[in-house]
Amino acid sequence: MSVAADIVVNKVEHSKLSEIDMSHLPFGKHYSDHMLIAYYENKQWGKPEIVPFSNLSLSPATTFFHYGQAIFEGVKAYKDPQGNPIIFRPRDNWERMNRSARRMAMPEVTEELFVEGMRQLVSLDRDWIPSTPDSSLYIRPFMIAVDEFIGVRPAEKFIFIIMTSPSGPYYNNPVSIYVQDDYVRAFPGGIGFTKAAANYGMSMYPTQQIKAMGYDQILWTDGYEHKYVQEIGTMNVFFVIGDTAITPDLEKDTILEGVTRNSVITLLREKGMKVEERPISIDEIADAYKAGTLKEAFGTGTAASITPIAELTYHDNHMKLANVDTWETTNFLKKELSDIRYGRKVDNHGWVYKV
Ligand code: COI
Repeated sequence: MSVAADIVVNKVEHSKLSEIDMSHLPFGKHYSDHMLIAYYENKQWGKPEIVPFSNLSLSPATTFFHYGQAIFEGVKAYKDPQGNPIIFRPRDNWERMNRSARRMAMPEVTEELFVEGMRQLVSLDRDWIPSTPDSSLYIRPFMIAVDEFIGVRPAEKFIFIIMTSPSGPYYNNPVSIYVQDDYVRAFPGGIGFTKAAANYGMSMYPTQQIKAMGYDQILWTDGYEHKYVQEIGTMNVFFVIGDTAITPDLEKDTILEGVTRNSVITLLREKGMKVEERPISIDEIADAYKAGTLKEAFGTGTAASITPIAELTYHDNHMKLANVDTWETTNFLKKELSDIRYGRKVDNHGWVYKV
């Protein structure tokens, strides 16, 4: 029998669902009743189980506490107009998780474990998928290294978990972005293209600094010249200059290959818009702003969806982008993507995975 067909399900005795106000959901604060868990040992994954969402008991010597061998993903489930659960592009996240795993010397997960395991978990907790606009069931698969050993070497034991969280939007409003050139997120040859926990841990201090200055997030620049923009950390980034949408290319392994980024590029090209994936410098953006050709700027991500950038600050240059409501490209994408994700529009791309 296949691994996923074999999933043992241990259901909660009492659901916590009635304790949650599903019409007012912050991002990532509430967790649904169950989680999927699988252990890797002796070079293979054991049988996954779906169990009540619960704490883990781990030795203080557990590898990932010390050396950060930890990776994660972000996926979302929605309800279509008939109330059927659907998951958006889970296979793309599975492939990306395995790219992260390879770079971090962690085992790959099978499609069955990741996608079919996720399907069964979402199916069981389908009542946790919110129906309010812009809300969804945020799915967080992750893997940690759990050898009880504090010597530095790749671990041999791992835990893979999928947990889910009914969530509202990550950003409720257009964001104000600070272009960072004191700190670096990623270098060629590093781990910028992965969803390694370390990429997020390293951003906490610089982000704390700019939040104290009143900004929401950092736009990272390259580590050599601090000239070319990379990504926002929680989002990929796009600039509409004239009639072209421009986003940094993925070539130097410094930027996360966002599933939403890819969806946006596809939808814009299908609409007939010019999209360029190429290095884009902060000077080019500032020049376009000055010339009045920087029309729109937005971030893309699973959690963030499509988030307009209302202000971009680079040193003492405060580039303010007004009238977000009139932005054609950003608002087209917001509508088109959510129509597909919520099953309101026929999916011609094979992006919607029926639970
Ligand atoms: C996502 O978009 O799913 C992310 O993982 C970004 C952030 C919440 C860490």
